[in-house]
This record gives sequence, C-alpha cells and structure tokens, in this order.
Amino acid sequence: MDKILIEGQKPLSGSVMISGAKNAVLPIMTAALMAEGKSALTRVPDLRDTRTMIRLMKIVGATCSFKDGRLEINASTVNNPEAPYDLVKTMRASFYVLGPLLARFGVVKVSLPGGCAWGPRPVDFHLKGLEKLGAKITLESGYIIAEAKRLKGADISFEFPSVGATGNIAMAAVTAEGTTIIENAAREPEIVQLCEYLNAMGGCIGGIGTTRLTIDGVDELHPADIDVIPDRIETGTFLIAGALSGEITLNGVNPQHLDAVLLKLKEAGCNVSTTSNSITIAPAETIQAVDMTTAVYPGFPTDLQAQWVALMSLAKGSSMITDTVYHDRFSHVPELNRFGANIKVDNNTAFVRGVDELVGAPVMSTDIRASASLIVAGLAAKGITEVSRVYHIDRGYEQIEEKFRSLGANIWRENPNA
Ligand code: EPU
Repeated sequence: MDKILIEGQKPLSGSVMISGAKNAVLPIMTAALMAEGKSALTRVPDLRDTRTMIRLMKIVGATCSFKDGRLEINASTVNNPEAPYDLVKTMRASFYVLGPLLARFGVVKVSLPGGCAWGPRPVDFHLKGLEKLGAKITLESGYIIAEAKRLKGADISFEFPSVGATGNIAMAAVTAEGTTIIENAAREPEIVQLCEYLNAMGGCIGGIGTTRLTIDGVDELHPADIDVIPDRIETGTFLIAGALSGEITLNGVNPQHLDAVLLKLKEAGCNVSTTSNSITIAPAETIQAVDMTTAVYPGFPTDLQAQWVALMSLAKGSSMITDTVYHDRFSHVPELNRFGANIKVDNNTAFVRGVDELVGAPVMSTDIRASASLIVAGLAAKGITEVSRVYHIDRGYEQIEEKFRSLGANIWRENPNA
C-alpha cells in the first residue's frame, strides 16, 4: 500500500491550479443517466471516487470515456438499475443513483450504505422523500429496492438540509408528475450546480441556491454538457497549508464559495487577497487561535474541520472547534497528537491548545479530509512524516504530491511492496 512521505518545514511559494469539485461531479454523473444520449462533462478531476463512479456507470450499462478531464457518458445503453454492495461500501456517493434510476426505470436496487469511520450517516431523508413522491421502498438482503411507475410531485421538508438527500430528491422529482417543493433544501454550491445541470437537461427547478426548491416535473430530459465548478474543499485545504507554510496563490477558484473560510483565516491573522478567480494567502507572523463551528453552506464546511484543527494546533492560544454536521468526525485528532499537538475531544468539540512546533511522525489516514489534515500538518512539522493508507486521500485530491511539490514542498510517494 502506498505511503506519502513529507520532509516538513520547506517554505511554500508559487501558484497552483485547483481541480474540479469531487462533490459536484459525482451527482452530475448520476444525473446524466436520466437522459438517453451522450453528455460531456469537463474539468472532471481524476480521482479514485470519480473512477469508482465510472465503474458504477458501466455496471448500470452506460458507456463512458474519460480523458484529460473530459468525461463522456452515453446513457442510451443503461439497462441495469442496480448499485452493488462492493461499490457502495467503498463510496457512499454511489447512493446518488437511487433517484435518477428510479425516475428513469420505475425500479432501482441500491445497497444500503451502512456506517462510516465517523458515525452512522443514515439515509432516512432520502428514503422518506422518495416515499413522499410515491415510491414503494423495501429492504431485501441489505439492498434498498424502490419502485414507482411514475413518481408524483409532493411537498417535502427535510429535518436537516442534507446535501445528498436534496440531490437525490431533486433528481427523482425533476421528471415526476406535478410539482415538488423541497423545504430546508441544501444550498451547497455543488447542489446549486446539480440543479443548474438538471435545468440544462430540460428540467424546471426554481429557487436554486435557496432553502426552498420548486420543481415542476417535466416529461423528458435530454443530454447536456457542463464544466464542473472548482473544488472549494481542495482550495480550502491548500489555503490552510499556505497559512502554515508560505505565500501561495490558488488559481481557477471561486472565492465566493469560501467566504466563511477566508473570514476565519483573516481572523487567524493571515493575509488573504482575491481576484474573481484566484486567492492568494500569506501566513500570519503568529497564527491566532480562532474558535470555529462548522455549519451547512454558507457556513464553515465540515470538510475543512480537520484541516482547521491542524492549523489551530500551531496557533498562539487555545481554540474550540465544534462540528455540528458530523458529531463524531474527529478521527484525525489522535493522529495529530502524534505530531505533538495538544488536542482533546469532548462530544462534538475539539479543544486545541496551540503548541510551538509539530514534529514529523508516522501517522495513518482514516478518511479523505483527515488525511488532508495530516498532510497539512506534515508540511509544517519538523522532520519526516509518513502517512499510510493514502488511498483515502486519492479518493478526493487530484495529484496532491505533484501540486505541493510544485509549490516547493518535499513530498513524495513510496510503495513499500513495489
Ligand atoms: N443525515 C441524516 N439522514 C439522511 C442524510 C443525512 O440524518 O438521510 C445527516 C447526516 O448524518 C449528517 C447530516 O445529515 O449528520 C449531513 O449529511 P449530508 O446528507 O448533508 O451529507 P452527505 O450528502 O452524505 C456530503 C458530502 C460530504 C460532506 C457532507 C456535508 C458528497 C459526495 N459528500 O455528504 O463530503 O461532508 O455532504 O457537507 O457530496 C467529503 O467530501 O469528504 C465528504 C464526506
């Protein structure tokens, strides 16, 4: 299994191009399954998760070709509305085929995702929403089977603005008979782009970017092309690395998607400047301790919580970091403490007492964003850091070592069995 090695404390400088957003492209790929014909997606990041979703596209019968960031999906041949356990267990986003395939075929069979490293992560909102649209849902040997000849528009109100449930229900409702209202909908930029894509396919979704989506069902969708939005979480990860290790510029980004993060970085003492499509960050002389609470968009994203904890571990003073979206998402904390950080967790809050330096250590990735926090910490730490189980990072970061190397980091990959 690959390891990433880092010789820390090399100053970063220069600029790097940010990739397309993982969490935007995955649901857009499943949306493309809803219309016969060929759709082209550009700025598609070459990630383990994108590759897993392509495998799933092929299992359901689509034809895909992926080269140089351009993904073509021909959904004319789709004939097998089923997502097997082997794929769903490695990538929960596979669950995004539920709404689109049910809408197109009247039946779909998708493995129930189960728990994940940081908690139960249920899918009850997806299922209750589909039931409201008239689907019959049964559970058979670990698989959800959803059936409905044609879905019917309904009023749906989520207890929590779930990203995945909003996406799944919007895709299911777009060809339902009549109007669907989704109250308390997610408004993450990735969901905004999914809804815009559905409209480009002929859908009729109003209220995009608000907490109330109005979806007037249409009879049919047609294929459409789209250029994927920049990955705000990759951007935020590099910003936090810059805050610790040197002045860098991130190109091809949308700074508006990172308002909450930029505000916190400024509070911590970093110099941040933006243009319409780039962000430059220069580290603070002394990083100030800043409390942070994650929230749904436009709040501070849970997907940058681990990286923020890494930053705060080198701040002057103590900070409290609370995750309100995922209460158990702290598997990075024991690993960061191996660098000499001083972090304790109580319920959904990490209490971080800043230390003067981190010292490189062998550490283990536990999920995509925890891994990113270990890399950010390793870049700032004295000596050598060895991050194992890096397949987690490959799920969500395109060419991470190459990108950091181009900024001056000493980071490389080794395969001990090669
Ligand atoms: N929830 C329920 N029931 C549901 C769905 C969600 O109780 O049916 C709860 C969850 O347990 C959680 C909260 O609602 O406490 C938010 O979950 P959400 O459904 O919004 O998350 P998701 O759609 O499963 C996406 C991203 C995650 C990101 C979250 C929150 C994708 C593929 N995944 O997950 O990204 O953390 O939204 O923003 O878009 C990552 O990229 O590393 C990642 C985990």
